[in-house]
Amino acid sequence: TPEHLDEWIGAAKATLGDRVFVLGHHYQRDEVMRWADARGDSFRLSVLAQERPEADYIVFCGVHFMAESADILTADHQQVVLPDLNAGCSMADMADIDEVTEAWESLADVVDIERVVPITYMNSSAALKAFVGEHGGAVCTSTNAKAVLEWALAKGDKVLFFPDQHLGRNSGYAMGYTEDDMRVWNPRLELGGLTEADCKDATLLLWKGHCSVHQRFRPEHVEAFRAEHPDGIVVAHPECAREVCELADQVGSTDYIIRAIEAAPPGSTIAVGTEIHLVNRLNEETPDKTVLSLDPLVCPCSTMFRIDAPHLAWVLESLVEGRVVNQITVDPETTTWAKVALERMLAIT
Ligand code: 13P
Ligand code: SF4
Repeated sequence: TPEHLDEWIGAAKATLGDRVFVLGHHYQRDEVMRWADARGDSFRLSVLAQERPEADYIVFCGVHFMAESADILTADHQQVVLPDLNAGCSMADMADIDEVTEAWESLADVVDIERVVPITYMNSSAALKAFVGEHGGAVCTSTNAKAVLEWALAKGDKVLFFPDQHLGRNSGYAMGYTEDDMRVWNPRLELGGLTEADCKDATLLLWKGHCSVHQRFRPEHVEAFRAEHPDGIVVAHPECAREVCELADQVGSTDYIIRAIEAAPPGSTIAVGTEIHLVNRLNEETPDKTVLSLDPLVCPCSTMFRIDAPHLAWVLESLVEGRVVNQITVDPETTTWAKVALERMLAIT
């Protein structure tokens, strides 16, 4: 029963004390989030893990790429655990190292590759973070994508951005670029489905990836909300399509969305374009404001949803028994280069 699970988790956490640090991404279910020692967006959680060297075990309630980033950034003695190994990210899976290497090689045949800077969104495998580290690029998050792209375009002429085309496009627009400066790279097609002239002309080559949760939000949702709540506020995550971000009042990462709701005047009605667990939690935790999903029919992120109380109880109980289950490890070479890419991002921002 839920009560038994709570007892089980509570007892295991108490036994482990400071040796365990439980991190909860904002999209996690409440039954998991209540046990998190820290909540945050994907980037903040990895940084927090680094600041807890006394914790031998980092239990990351989030998705696979986040646990990998925590493993890259934490000390060698720290072990990172993902309560369900099936908690991946469909967007991160849209770019793999073989496809990106192939894209890079075919691009090298048509443009001066020394002038191309690869940038990967945090939502990507450790192998891709290492790829950008090794090829002079950096990682970015939804908070700092614009600053990282500005850095990249100060040192090169062109960026190959993966995996999320929407974050790339929204950041490009925020920098003053237009659709003419951007091309979408389709990894299933030769030369990304582009002509040589396209590759030469484009400043931003945007990988054809997307988040299936955020891509569901449409301009019609913004219009319907505004018709019903003329004074309402619309806040969208930059993984939403350009047409939605253009109509939103504010655009930002999950941490940014939380701050935007805190800053909204009491009595406001705010429609949020992001995962439903965060939206519902914000509505419950902010009784003087009404927080709604921009899409009334929105689905949760199915992979974030995989982490539940039984999985959390199981990994914690195993740690109490001295067994580390579902450990996420990144090999030393990948770690070295991925760290370079993450540290470049930190230096830029
Ligand atoms: P944040 O970096 O804003 O936490 O976003 C992570 C994510 O997966 C959004 O879909
Ligand atoms: Fe990946 Fe989208 Fe889920 Fe975030 S919400 S973890 S980008 S699938």
